Amino acid sequence: MDDPRSRTGQPLAMGTMPRILVVYHSRTGFTQTVARQIARGCGADLERIVDAAGHERPGDWRCTLNAILGRGTGIAPSRHAPGDYDLVVVGTPVWCWRVAAPVRSWLQRHRDELRRLAFFCTQNGAGQDRVFRDMKRLCGRAPEHTLAVRDRDIIRRAHRSAVRAFVTALQQPPGLLRNHRRRRLAALGGGGPSVFQEQAD
Ligand SMILES: Cc1cc2nc3c(=O)[nH]c(=O)nc-3n(C[C@H](O)[C@H](O)[C@H](O)COP(=O)(O)O)c2cc1C
Repeated sequence: MDDPRSRTGQPLAMGTMPRILVVYHSRTGFTQTVARQIARGCGADLERIVDAAGHERPGDWRCTLNAILGRGTGIAPSRHAPGDYDLVVVGTPVWCWRVAAPVRSWLQRHRDELRRLAFFCTQNGAGQDRVFRDMKRLCGRAPEHTLAVRDRDIIRRAHRSAVRAFVTALQQPPGLLRNHRRRRLAALGGGGPSVFQEQAD
């Protein structure tokens, strides 16, 4: 349904829920699990970034090469228009300390349609800072929040408090997280290795 907020680009009134799109790429399901949890938590639309070139299938070495060389890949057209959303949440697996090639291509394709942003990534355990830096550079603007989740936490379901903190933060009007609330969310999401962070400008 068309939402007038999206077309005006005006700040949301207090108490109005932002319209959120969660987009992600996933080869083996970890990023998809987290994307679905975030989308369910905040009533967001969900879109999987589809590798149209077929290079990102498990076992295909071109996915590693694309990541290392910082190359994108062919992706299918988006089903949702990112410009229709107040906030877009972009999720990627970490590949060789880099953003996954399909996500790189999606950010390059849609960078001019994005307003408010948040990022998340899944990983074995290393590379999140570089990945978030790359994503910020690719779309030319900073995320309001980030979430990094380790595979082993997803398997043990130890990532859920960090996801809850992230979802709560996404639903706040921008810049309106009060200090006590920020501390509470940080305590909720920062206690384990899967980390939610509100980003400073
Ligand atoms: C080609 C490739 C490179 C990877 N490089 C890293 C890495 O640099 N750091 C890391 O922590 N995990 C790395 N991983 C692990 C993935 O980031 C992790 O398993 C992720 O959760 C996979 O997401 P998915 O199941 O949604 O595809 C790599 C995985 C692949 C396939």
